[in-house]
Formats: sequence, C-alpha cells, structure tokens
Amino acid sequence: MAAPPALARELLDAAWAPGFVEWQRGVRRRIHQHPELAFQEHRTSALVRDELDAIGVPYAWPVAQTGVVATITGPAAAGGPVFALRADMDALPIQEMVEWEFKSKEDGKMHACGHDAHVAMLLGAAKLLQSRRHDLKGTVKLVFQPAEEGHAGGYHVLKEGVLDDVQAIFAVHVDTGLPVGLVGSRPGPVLAGAARFTATITGKGGHAAGPQHVVDPIVAASSAVLSLQQLVARETDPLQGAVVSVTFIKGGEAFNVIPESVTMGGTFRSMTNNGLSYLMKRIREVIEGQAAVCRCAATVDFMEEKMRPYPATVNEEAMYAHAKAVAESMLGEANVKVRPQVMAAEDFGFYAQKIPAAFFSVGVRDEGTGKVHHVHSPHLQIDEGALPIGAAFHAAVAMEYLNKHVSQAASEAQAPS
Ligand code: NI
Repeated sequence: MAAPPALARELLDAAWAPGFVEWQRGVRRRIHQHPELAFQEHRTSALVRDELDAIGVPYAWPVAQTGVVATITGPAAAGGPVFALRADMDALPIQEMVEWEFKSKEDGKMHACGHDAHVAMLLGAAKLLQSRRHDLKGTVKLVFQPAEEGHAGGYHVLKEGVLDDVQAIFAVHVDTGLPVGLVGSRPGPVLAGAARFTATITGKGGHAAGPQHVVDPIVAASSAVLSLQQLVARETDPLQGAVVSVTFIKGGEAFNVIPESVTMGGTFRSMTNNGLSYLMKRIREVIEGQAAVCRCAATVDFMEEKMRPYPATVNEEAMYAHAKAVAESMLGEANVKVRPQVMAAEDFGFYAQKIPAAFFSVGVRDEGTGKVHHVHSPHLQIDEGALPIGAAFHAAVAMEYLNKHVSQAASEAQAPS
C-alpha cells in the first residue's frame, strides 16, 4: 500500500518554517565550528543532549563513549513497532580551506564529510517527531553515533544492545553529486565493504654488492605487490566491484645496503561481504607465498581489533522501497534518483548486516559556488537548504514505517486463527 502523500509533505512544510530553518542552520554551524575526531565528540554530544533537553526528548548516554540514543514513543505504543534513525557525529583530520564566517576553529580538523549536517538533520527529525508524538504508532530511536570515520562507531553502538528491539533502521548521507531538493539510493549493495592490511616481509640484510650473501625483501615485496593486482583482475567476477590497492611500501635507506625488511600496506574493498572475506584470505596467501618464493618470511596483519573492517552497506529491498516511496511523496517522483554504487565504505554497514536497513543520499550540491568539491575535500561546501529536507525525510520514513507496521500487526491480530 502506497504511503499517504500528505504526511511527508506536511513534515517538510513544518521544517521549512522560518524559525525551524534558522534553528537547524544554527545547530549545524555550531557543530561545524568545533569539529571533533572519532570518539572525541564530547562537545558535539553535549550539544545534542542540550537540544534534546530543550525539545523534551529523553535519551540514553553515554552509548559507545560519546554517543546519544534518544527515544520518542507514541501515547499507546507499548508493544508497537520500533524504528531507528541514525546520524554520525565525527569530523576528519583535515584543515578547512573554505573562508566563511563559520569556518572550523579547530586547527587541522574539519567536518569534511557532512556529519555536522547529519546531526542537524536528525535533531530536526527529533523536533518534528516530538511535535507529532500523539500520532506516533510506535517508538522511534534516534542514534547520534560516534566514530564513523575508520573507528567503527556503529559496531560499538550495536554491541551495547540499545538497538536490540529495533525492527528497521534508516540513515542519510550528504551527496555533493545531487543538487538540493534531490535524494536517491539503490536497492541492494550501495557502498563497499572495506578493510586494511599491513605486511612485513623479512629477509637478511647486507651489502648490496654481494646479493648472494643476503635474502632480499625488496624483490619479494615487489613480487607481492604485482601478484596482488591479479586478485581483482583474474580472480574476481568482472561484474562485481572490488579493489585491492597497495598504498605504501617502505624499506631501505642506503644505495649499497639491502635492508633486513620491508613493510607495506593498503586497502581492499568489495561490494559483497563474501568478496571481502575472499580478498582477505587471498591477500595473506599471496604475500606469504611470494615472500616464500623469494626465501623471505612474511607476516600479514588486518588490524581487526583496532581498525575493524566495515561490511558492505546493503539496502534491504522492502526498506529501500519504503524510503523511496516516502521520498517520492515528499519531493515528487522526478526528484528521487537511482544512485550508482560506490567503493567508499560506511559503518552503517554494521547496522544493515543485523537489521533491515536503507541508506539514502541527500543532495547538498551548492550550485552557487560554481564548483563541486566532494566529501573529504578541504574545500567542501554544502547548501544548507538540504537540512530541512533531511529532517523531514528522517521523520517521515520513521512515522510511515510505524503506521504501516502497526496496521499490519492489527490486521494480523484480527485475522481468524
Ligand atoms: Ni561520511
């Protein structure tokens, strides 16, 4: 059954009210001026809690160190469906190069992935949902999550069990590929699973004039780097996305000395979790094997405890269809796009692995600047006109999900057994 178009549109109109727009923009700018890195989001977390207090929404804190999980429950929602919305809070170690009034005040730190906007959008959703609390047919949990950038904050939030009762989850990401007013995604895999590796290849160092007396780890490392290229070129389905990139290699200092060892490392990615496991297994085999051929020893480390691999972000078909229908009712069919897969990764993949999930792009391209700088650029600028759209999108996806699932539960209860 199609979602009634009125609700999403009503929520967007409420988010477009002048007071609401200014408040939301102010929230985003305050966060933008004080970016904080993974698991250091103390100030951002305090801002989120202050705003939730002002709106009158209860929350659990701390969740995964700095995280906040707010809960908004309808009047007769006991036993009703539970839906989650998620925003990430952390910034990047990048020096902002945009000269504007609300430029980052923290040296070497910047909200260059738009997570400041994500927090403002989710706080906007909290405000919209709280003002319509009497219409909520269940519970909405709003997850303000730490440490998306490389430190798997999503994994740590899930581990604390605060989302164990959630039936589905939704999140958005700013997208500089789309102008304001457009959103999009795709069914199935949308972002890659990603992991890292380092390797040390050890031989026997010595005088470069006497190669017969040494065991050369530089030649072994070179063979390994070349052989790793075959994992994508020769062992992966050409129609399935995968990447293996060696991004650093270090060894030796003198012109006439063969070093004792070489270290190297890089990233690997796949659009499927099976593909990621396969690459992990083969990277180890290839490096150890090539080292052995060259009489060297190798150790390979995937740093799984410190820098946990991210699973692929996969949109569940029904959740994708639900969010898409809500977006169409809010913005019109022509403004909801099918987006391409990209090899970037997101720790939203951890949620999507456990809970039916949808992850959507929200257009933030600033047409006024004439140039497009993508996320993770020190020149990133986003059009704040997207903030009310993100807020209403979140709120409408959650409310319509509860509406749909409470009526399903009711009709199942009424059906003759
Ligand atoms: Ni991001």
